[in-house]
Amino acid sequence: MERACPKPVAAGTCLAVCAPERSFPVERFLLAAGGAGANVAAMPATSRRTSVFTESLIREMTRVAQQHGAINLAQGFPDTDPPASLVAAAKAAMDAGRHQYAITWGSPELREALAAKLTRYSGLPVDPQRELVVTCGATEAMMVAMMTVCDPGDRVGLFSPFYENYNADAILTGATPVHVPLQPPGYGFDPAQLRAAFASGLKAFVLCNPSNPTGRVFTREELGQIAALAEEFDTFVITDEVYEHIVFDGRKHVTFVTLPGMAKRTLTCSSLSKTFSITGWRLGYVHAPAEIIAQARKVHDFLTVGAAAPLQHAVVTALGYGPEYYVQLAAEYAAQRDILCGYLDQTGLAYTRPEGAYFVMLDISPFGRASDIEFSHWMAREIGVAPVPGSSFFPEPENRFVRLNFAKRPTTLHAAGERLLRLKRG
Ligand SMILES: Cc1ncc(COP(=O)(O)O)c(C=O)c1O
Repeated sequence: MERACPKPVAAGTCLAVCAPERSFPVERFLLAAGGAGANVAAMPATSRRTSVFTESLIREMTRVAQQHGAINLAQGFPDTDPPASLVAAAKAAMDAGRHQYAITWGSPELREALAAKLTRYSGLPVDPQRELVVTCGATEAMMVAMMTVCDPGDRVGLFSPFYENYNADAILTGATPVHVPLQPPGYGFDPAQLRAAFASGLKAFVLCNPSNPTGRVFTREELGQIAALAEEFDTFVITDEVYEHIVFDGRKHVTFVTLPGMAKRTLTCSSLSKTFSITGWRLGYVHAPAEIIAQARKVHDFLTVGAAAPLQHAVVTALGYGPEYYVQLAAEYAAQRDILCGYLDQTGLAYTRPEGAYFVMLDISPFGRASDIEFSHWMAREIGVAPVPGSSFFPEPENRFVRLNFAKRPTTLHAAGERLLRLKRG
């Protein structure tokens, strides 16, 4: 049910995200102008749903980094090249004339390679003909998954802090996000709060594991608690597993769909962006039971028609890499984590040591700033390192954190680390 926002705003009234049980910082999501009811002479109003969220703060911090010549530890993309054989495969695909649309839901050879890889790494039997749709990155995969299972007015559960796209995905679907807090610094959840969220009538629960921005890798026991609630309350689970191969210190990523009973209600979204350092290629996928994928393929078709054909063809090469590729990937990111955390240790500031993914949440509360956004701009300008304001991941008014990413070459991280030492207190 939509209801009027309790905080009237200059440009109109928020009608989309104010669930009665939450206090949501609506003003942070409102554009200064534009959107519903904007006072722009002789121009029809744009949709209400687009007026309730702003541009991504992450992408904005990339622009701020460029403006101040700061080292960009904001946006999560690797600054290393993809494997040479993968780049060669892309060139070969172009030369071989793979320029026209691939099959809408993914070229057959890519779906076969994906299915084989999923079976190899999670022991899951996957039918490439009926259970996969190739998307333009996990970004589209998550949108497709949400639009496939949710109707306007449905409630979608997510942990907070969360990857900022999920809120927007829910709002664009017409669904209401329901947040379950993860408690810093460990970012575990309170089972009673999780149960209360499921009991409030969720159509779907979004699970990001390994988690951006917290760096948590949920344990099998925690995943089991989520699975039990999904079963009890008959809820879909939409997973975002883009960091599945970036886990540290001997941890193993557990693919949620492999938990007993979860196959029929899980939509697994993942990406080739992070695993093969190809964030610009825009390749991802949704895996789910055939009945769900049949619907998801329609959503995907009308949203994008399909991912880039020559790149779909090329990435088959990468999906054939052996286990050593994934071992090395995790080892390299672990070494990069250790470089950044080594410098953070010297600053004396508190942070959460990531178990997976490539982000660190840094506690900036000793600086006593009212706004983490203002702090982030100051940090880019004066320290020369651009972070993401932590508030972009929280629905609550939370100003204590900034997020740094370590998907950077060691030389970049050392240069950033030397600058970060200027944050040293006292
Ligand atoms: C948790 C999470 N999901 C999805 C994405 C986007 O993935 P893709 O490049 O496949 O769209 C990101 C990128 O930072 C991410 O951190």
